[in-house]
Amino acid sequence: MLPSLCLGDILGLLIVKLGGSVITDKHSPFKVRRKVVKRLAHELKSAREPLILIHGGGSFGHPLASKYGIANGYRSKTQLMGLSLTHGAMEQLNVEVVGALQKAGLPAMAVQPSSCMVVDGGRIRHMELVPIRKLLELGMIPVLYGDAVPDISQGMSILSGDQIASYLARELRASRVIMGVDVDGVYRKGRKNSKRVEIIRRITPDDEKLLSSLGTAGKGDVTGGMRNKVRELLEAAKEGIEAEIVNASKPGVLERAIRGKRGLGTVISGRR
Ligand code: IPE
Repeated sequence: MLPSLCLGDILGLLIVKLGGSVITDKHSPFKVRRKVVKRLAHELKSAREPLILIHGGGSFGHPLASKYGIANGYRSKTQLMGLSLTHGAMEQLNVEVVGALQKAGLPAMAVQPSSCMVVDGGRIRHMELVPIRKLLELGMIPVLYGDAVPDISQGMSILSGDQIASYLARELRASRVIMGVDVDGVYRKGRKNSKRVEIIRRITPDDEKLLSSLGTAGKGDVTGGMRNKVRELLEAAKEGIEAEIVNASKPGVLERAIRGKRGLGTVISGRR
């Protein structure tokens, strides 16, 4: 019998996901935006509640995952090296993120999704949550990431940080999810590059039809861009967990969101 399974809700839990396009240079393979990561680590210091940080893959995860077709499952032996390399690249990026948090004085600790989650057809079926609960109870900051994972039905797959954020938010009854991306929120169809861009201010489960009009991100993004982000967050919204997609590339925005400011980007919530 374990001494304490700490199975209660973690009061006020905040989950922050930092997109790969914020923390890496999407155009240069394996390039971390160190100054940005450092700034964001300092912005994260404003969190007063228990915090889980999740980060994406950017130019560390996506090119390798795409080259070896990891998201589509096992087909040939060459993908084994691909799985190894993609996961390894994500670990390298994770070391950078955890290191930046430590330098900012935050007690961060890596949690490897590929070894504590059971994934089936690209979806999380189960996760061992006791270590994460315990870390949070201690006051630590678990840091997870989108990962290349073993998959019980298709051999291997890619788990997006967005799916992890939504799953943990539901399982641990988070008070809020903040997704830091490199745009100001969710744009209305086709307007991103026009001069008058229009940000959708709030999305609720009633707007599910809107999903098909959202971008799936460009070539080489294996996890589905903004559409996937919103889809995952709507799952959490249906269970009453509010999220907001904000521009973490702009200094201070993540910090303001963490301090409780709403309406900085696109809110995804259960109700209008
Ligand atoms: C992708 O994670 C992880 C890999 C490609 C291995 P995400 O889907 O969360 O990454 P970003 O935020 O889009 O870069």
